[in-house]
Amino acid sequence: MTSSSSHAPEPLYGGSPTGRRVTVRDLAEAKSRHEKWPMITAYDALTARVFDEAGIPVLLVGDSAAMVVYGHDSTIPVTVDELLPLVRGVVRGSSRAMVVADLPFGSYQASPAQALETAARFMKEAGAHAVKLEGGARVLPQVELLASSGIPVMAHLGLTPQSVHAFGGYRVQGRGEDGARLLQDAKALQAAGAFAVVLEVVPADLAAHVTEILSMPTIGIGAGAATDAQVIVWQDMAGLTPGRTAKFVKKYADLHGVLLEASQAWAADVVSGAYPGPEHTYE
Ligand code: KIV
Repeated sequence: MTSSSSHAPEPLYGGSPTGRRVTVRDLAEAKSRHEKWPMITAYDALTARVFDEAGIPVLLVGDSAAMVVYGHDSTIPVTVDELLPLVRGVVRGSSRAMVVADLPFGSYQASPAQALETAARFMKEAGAHAVKLEGGARVLPQVELLASSGIPVMAHLGLTPQSVHAFGGYRVQGRGEDGARLLQDAKALQAAGAFAVVLEVVPADLAAHVTEILSMPTIGIGAGAATDAQVIVWQDMAGLTPGRTAKFVKKYADLHGVLLEASQAWAADVVSGAYPGPEHTYE
């Protein structure tokens, strides 16, 4: 066999720009190669551009925008009309990554028809390549209709933040008997046509078991190391989120400190007259 007919596939993370977006097929193939990959949130064109340049294959415009963009204390208040322009910016700022739009609370639960209408808006008006919604058995009809309409659907189980009031706070999900229900939900979502599932804040051994059983990729956040992929809210990992962060967050930078110092240095220069200098001034 000649080598020209059997070249190795590009890795999902860090793969060179191919002139096309990452697809659900690429994610499925990565699972069959046991290749792990990162997904990160993005809410605007410039950060999307950075993460795309970093080679991150999937960008999620999360409803976490409610907190990190709009300043709410949960994901519940954010609306479709508030998320649409963020998705547009992320799509425009990236060229390789698949862009997943989160369906916000109240925009898909009422019926499969409502889910289809909302998902279609994210795809037609903002250019999203896939959508994400939260829940197990109760959203199966929604997942079925979206998938059969040609819309890639990412599912989300475990600590689904839109149900925070029903859970009585942000707590670990899937312990004890709940673990069996979560596994059932994951299998049913896959059968309904979901292409991947986020597992949020669940015991690591449960996430590992679900990952082994499912043929679709699992994407963990606070779900241990065995999932096929990991997702993070970028402000958490880059040190912009104020106060205490969840146990699963690892800080890779101190962006709060960097921005604080830069803004103070600029402000001090303005006050002293050191900025703008002649090199920043037009004749
Ligand atoms: O909204 C979001 O950012 C999310 C991720 C944390 C999975 O749903």
